[in-house]
Amino acid sequence: MQNNVRPDNMQRINTTELANAFIDEQVKGIRAQVGKEKVLLALSGGVDSSVVAALLIKAIGKQLVCVHVNHGLMRKDESEQVIEVFGKSLDANLVYVDATDRFLSLLEGVADPEKKRKIIGGEFIKVFDEEAAKLDGISFLAQGTIYPDILESIKAKESGKPVKSHHNVGGLPDEMQMQLVEPIKLLFKDEVRVVGEALGLPHAMVYRQPFPGPGLGVRCLGAITRDRLNALREADAILREEFDKNGLAEKVWQYFISIPDFKSVGVRNEARYEGWPAIIRAVNTVDAMSATIEEIPYPLLHHITKRITSEVEGINRVLLDLTPKPVGTIEWE
Ligand code: XMP
Repeated sequence: MQNNVRPDNMQRINTTELANAFIDEQVKGIRAQVGKEKVLLALSGGVDSSVVAALLIKAIGKQLVCVHVNHGLMRKDESEQVIEVFGKSLDANLVYVDATDRFLSLLEGVADPEKKRKIIGGEFIKVFDEEAAKLDGISFLAQGTIYPDILESIKAKESGKPVKSHHNVGGLPDEMQMQLVEPIKLLFKDEVRVVGEALGLPHAMVYRQPFPGPGLGVRCLGAITRDRLNALREADAILREEFDKNGLAEKVWQYFISIPDFKSVGVRNEARYEGWPAIIRAVNTVDAMSATIEEIPYPLLHHITKRITSEVEGINRVLLDLTPKPVGTIEWE
């Protein structure tokens, strides 16, 4: 097994040539490690798990089984993109699980952010394990671990003080003894992206902004309701579309909407219209430990406000979050 320390002399993968060399080396390594056995992967559709999936498909084709759990907290069209790219274009062995109802009913009435995170994380592992148990003869588990994950977990262990209970996949039960396949664990994010492009993944997938494991669950603030979650998904899609059109999508590190669980009085079609405020947050950071605010041009803010308040049911105000990290964390919950 590869060890967890990036050698000092390891070259930064910043060209297609270097990415291709890395891909060739990993394909050989994966084939040697896995042989004829089957490999399981939780495919969220984020950059890391997508690149691992594409690498494994190249190396072992249908011996890879990808499980995509839709927890109902994905952004607009995200699960559809996973099905399109992996299920259709790459013809992967893809198991799609729509677990929306399970997650949303467990989350009903739960307002505490840490409880919400624990429920989402715990249920994710449960659904994934159930799917894994249905599959026969799986000996390996692939993971999209990258080098910052390794560095962060070392730091968190040393300090013993994580700020939020971040999670991605979690773990499988002990009785499911599987060996790990972690082909990108020594790479930094920018390198993962270069490898993803060299593997032919869509640009939008490879340059997707970071998205938390608990998804829109930590942006639909307080106790989640379906109507507010839908409003959040639509407003977020408008924000992303406008950032894309106006050249901000690749400039800004992370940008999204959160919606609190209170309404204010407004007016629409000359009648009282109570609605939620949509809060825009756009930040830049190097390592997510601290973050600064991106200055969005006012004309664009006006345009986004007009679109969200007229196109999204239930929203009657748009607010802008100007708080750097610290003192605010990037996500509100
Ligand atoms: P905070 O809110 O702690 O977020 O300043 C820092 C970065 O981490 C992302 N984030 C998560 N990522 N699982 C993840 O993979 C999580 O549970 C999670 N929570 C927050 C957040 O979006 C930001 O980029």
